[in-house]
Formats: sequence, C-alpha cells, structure tokens
Amino acid sequence: MLATMGRLWQTVRPIRFRLYLGLLSALTASILALLIPQVLEVIVNRLNTDPTAAAVWTAGAVVLALGLAEAAMIWLRRTFAVSPSTQVERTMRTDFYKKVQHMPVSFHDGWGSGQLLSRVISDISMIRRWVAFGMIMLTTSTVTIIVGMFLLIRSNLILSLIFFLAALPVGIIAFRFNRTYSVLSRRSQDLNGDLATTIEQSVQGIRVLKAFGRGPTALEDFTHQAEELRTTEVQKATAMARFNMFMFMLPQFALGVSLFVGLHLTARGDMNVGQLASYFATATLIIGPVQMLGMLFGQAVNTVTALDRHYEVMDEVNTITSPEKPVPVSIADAKGVVRLEDVHFRYVDAPDHVSDVIDGADLEIRAGETMALVGVTGSGKSTLLQMVPRLYDVTGGRITIDGVDIRDMDLMDLRRLTAVAFEDATLFSDSVRTNVLLGADESLSDEEREALLELALETADASFVHDLPEGVDTRIGEEGMSLSGGQRQRLALARAIAAKPTVLLLDDPLSALDTKTEERVTERLREVLDGTTTLIVAHRTSTVALADRVALLDHGKVEAVGTHEELMRTSARYRWVIANQEEEARRDRDIETLTGELNLSALQGQAGQR
Ligand SMILES: Nc1ncnc2c1ncn2[C@@H]1O[C@H](COP(=O)(O)OP(=O)(O)OP(=O)(O)O)[C@@H](O)[C@H]1O
Ligand SMILES: [Mg+2]
Repeated sequence: MLATMGRLWQTVRPIRFRLYLGLLSALTASILALLIPQVLEVIVNRLNTDPTAAAVWTAGAVVLALGLAEAAMIWLRRTFAVSPSTQVERTMRTDFYKKVQHMPVSFHDGWGSGQLLSRVISDISMIRRWVAFGMIMLTTSTVTIIVGMFLLIRSNLILSLIFFLAALPVGIIAFRFNRTYSVLSRRSQDLNGDLATTIEQSVQGIRVLKAFGRGPTALEDFTHQAEELRTTEVQKATAMARFNMFMFMLPQFALGVSLFVGLHLTARGDMNVGQLASYFATATLIIGPVQMLGMLFGQAVNTVTALDRHYEVMDEVNTITSPEKPVPVSIADAKGVVRLEDVHFRYVDAPDHVSDVIDGADLEIRAGETMALVGVTGSGKSTLLQMVPRLYDVTGGRITIDGVDIRDMDLMDLRRLTAVAFEDATLFSDSVRTNVLLGADESLSDEEREALLELALETADASFVHDLPEGVDTRIGEEGMSLSGGQRQRLALARAIAAKPTVLLLDDPLSALDTKTEERVTERLREVLDGTTTLIVAHRTSTVALADRVALLDHGKVEAVGTHEELMRTSARYRWVIANQEEEARRDRDIETLTGELNLSALQGQAGQR
C-alpha cells in the first residue's frame, strides 16, 4: 500500500507546492477549530467573574472571527488543491492513452477494451479525488487527532486515559477492515471493467445479436454480470457500514464514559466548569476527524486498488520499439526489396503442442513487383502481412527491407515505408477525406493533398463518395453515414494507396467487390502502383493472375513461388488450393443466384396470393 502511494507521489511531485499550500490551509482550519474550545474555556471562566454585556460581546466576536477564519481556510484548501489535482488526472490519463497507443497489437489481443476503458476513466477519477481531497484530509485529520489528544491530556489526564482506552479497539478494527475491503474493492473495480467490455461488445455486435435472436441471452449474461457487481458493491458497503459503525460508536461511547467521570470530578471540585466545557468541546472536535478517518480509509483502499490497476497497464513492457541507434532510412531512395529469411512466428497464447503459425518462411519480393500471397484459410497470410510493419515481431528469423533488418529501423521510418489495408476495413468517425488521407505525407500542400485524395479514390474505384451528401466531407464511420462492406473496403484501400508507401501490403482488399469491379481495380492498381512493391493476399484467380508472381503459403512455409502459370504447371498443392477457392467462389455465386431466384419466387407467391 505504501509503495503504491509512494509511486503516486512521483506523479504528484510537480504540483507538490500547491498541495502543501492546500495542506497548510486545511491544517490552519483544523487548528482554528481546535482553538475555539480553548477560547471557550477562558470565556466561560471569565464570565463567571465578570458577567458584563461588553465581555459577552467580545467573547462572541472572538469565536465568530475564529469561525470565519476557519471557513476561509477551508475555501483556500479547495482553491489550492482542486486545480492541480485535475492536472494530475489529465497527465495520468494522457500517459495511459499514450501507453495504450504505443503498445503492440499483441497487448490489445490480451486486454479487454472495457478493462482499459474503466481504468482510464473511473480509476483515474478516483485517484484525482484522492489527490484533491483524501490525501490532504487524511493528513489533516491525523494531525488534528494528535494535537487534540495532546490538548486533552493537558486539560485532564484521567479523563483522557479513559477516553483513549475506550477508543482503542478502533485500531484493530481498522486493520481487519483494510484486509476485507481491499479484496472487495479490487473485485468490484475488475467487474466494472468486465461489464464495460460486455457493453462494448454487444453494442458493436448488436446486428448479430438481433439477427440471431440472441438479444435475450445477451441480456441474461449482462444481468448476471451486473448482479455479481451489485453483490460485490453491497458487500463493500456492508463492510464499510460495519467499520463506520465502530468508528462512530466507539468514540461516542468513550466520550460518554469520560463525561460521566468528568461530571463527577467537577462535582467534587477537582475540575472547574471552564475546564470541563473545553475538555468536551475538544473531545467532540476530535471525534469528527476520527469518524472521517473511516471514510478516508475506505477511499485510500479504493485509490490503492485504482493505482494498482493503473500501474498494471503502465508496467506492461512494449517489445516492439525503435532501436537505440536506428539505421538511417531514406524514404525517397528506398527500393522496396522485401526479404523473409527463415521467419518464425507464434502467438503468445498458442498452446505448446501446435507448431508455429509461420514456421520457417523464406521469400524475396523484388523491388516494384506485385506478389500475390495465396493459401488456405487460417494458413497465416494475415499474420505474415502484419509482421512487415512490425505489428507483430518475428519470433525467429528476420525480415529485411533493402537489406536492413526491420528491427534495426526507426519504427516511424518503417511505418512510413509500408502501408496496410486490413481484412476488416476499419474507418474512423470522421470525414472521408480524413479517413483516406490518414497516412498521407503531412508536408504536402493542400492542393497536392487534394490531388492525392482524388488519385487514391479513383484508383480504389471509390468515386461513389462524390455522390454522398457532402462528398469527401461526409462524416462516415460509427457516428456517421453507414457504408456498405465493399464501400468500406475501397476506402481502406484508398487509404493505403494515399500513404504512397514503398511497400504496400493488401490483405484481401477486394473480397467484397464483384468480379467486374475487382478486375477494374486490379488493373488500375497495377498502373498507379508501378514501382511500388506490393504483397497482396488474394482469393480470386483473376487477381492472382494479374500479379507478377505468386507465393503459396502452406503449413507456415512458402511452399512455392512463381508466376501463376508456372505454379499451375508445377505445384499440385497450388492447383488444389486454387481449385478449392474457385469452388468456393462458384458456390458463392450459386448462392447469390439461388437467393435471387428464391426472392423472385417469394415475390411471385405474394403476388399470386393477392
Ligand atoms: N490474435 C491472435 N491470437 C492467437 N491466434 C491467432 C490470432 N490471430 C490469428 N491467429 C491464428 O493464427 C492462424 C493464422 O491466422 P491468419 O489470420 O493469419 O490466417 P489467414 O491465412 O489470414 O486466414 P484467412 O484466409 O481466413 O484470412 C489461425 O490459426 C488463427 O487461429
Ligand atoms: Mg486473413
């Protein structure tokens, strides 16, 4: 707990002076509050001897002044602490986002998005509340209690001993509370993250859930999770309530006992009325902070949990980084010869008995060549493609571009050299223009960018965007206009083209297009991409046939390389894969025709009924 809080201090350091000022104000406020009973003692005793109106007015004015000063100090505390604490919140949030952005794809394979979401939002807010309030108040309460105890002892030793003895069990109870509450706090915050993941997934997959009538089941799962969270929250609240009960009861009990004894002492004349009054005023004042300790303690536990969850992500090691001394790469002079040398790759979560997804692949793609990558589904084509821009790092062997190991290049250089159009065309909630020019050279002038946009859209056969309500300025993506699968794919392709890479990696970019459009796009690609090294995952023979050469990926190895005709002649496996894909394509076409006919007959049937 202390180590975690110590780590937080590193983040808080830059704002420490304002926090000190906040703490100082809070302490002054408590001291002023503690002073009031002391003044009270003097006043009560003085009034016994000099009960004039002037004396009463003076006494009242002094107490009022002290009260006002206390209020001013409380206001100052907030002013000093709140703004810098939001600064800490912002810094932590930005660092978290930076970290998550920076982490490789393999990190995101393993982390639920809801977990990251709840960490970046609710955990960090909790930490902010601690910095702004909890941290200062815990210190102040502790100081108030210590000073108050000192004042109590000074005013009457016997009464104080009785008071402390009766309040002693608080320590033991606090220790036990900490143990239970930490566990519950962690569980509740984790469940919160899981719940967020579930919501995110069902919102993303709402169509599937609806179409398959799985809405009720999803709701049931969600209800179950929400119920589990509720149970934990109730357990948490119960633990807190029980703890608070003791924190409220014990000091009151102690106060009662000492009041009883105090009255007795005063009656006997061992204490005067002023002392008794000030004793109880002080004792009442320290009861407030003692009771507050309960709440602050709970807050401290929640904060430590939040910090642990935060640091869990921050401490994840990024293995895909730029080297210390990167080999300089000239983007302008790059040729784009890509070589795979005995490349191995396995996913971290792959079970031991399965062999590597990429299991010793060797391949050379010549400068400016278009190479098609063919293989059965699940053979590792997408995996292989993503290794070139180092979205995943090889687990054996190496990949070079123009003879330089990609791990020796600066990551930014490597990613400027390469561009990818992924299988699932992800678009952002933004204009068509921003989406397409995402990877485009930023030093270009506005006109050049406009021309590039046009060229990319034209090449990817995405001129349909001009028919959208606001042309290239139309907002698309999650919050905007919905596009069809084929339209999205063509925009993703345009985005890869607009990046003007030396090495272009296309993962089945034309799969959603009809054969005619696909042929047109492939032709245009060849024209525009003349000189760009292109590796294209392809399923259709028409795309494959247009490539300069084809590589067959099978069982993690590049089994054969050559032109389509050569491979058709020499490789039985290649013929088999191609025949299979043809078969699939034909089945798709048959299904299309069949559905067309079915629809037609259904319509006719309806017409007949009418
Ligand atoms: N993130 C991941 N974590 C673990 N295993 C994965 C991951 N992504 C893919 N795999 C596994 O790796 C293998 C290769 O997957 P990959 O997506 O590269 O195949 P593919 O050749 O692109 O298939 P397709 O033609 O269907 O797109 C598959 O067996 C798959 O289950
Ligand atoms: Mg794939």
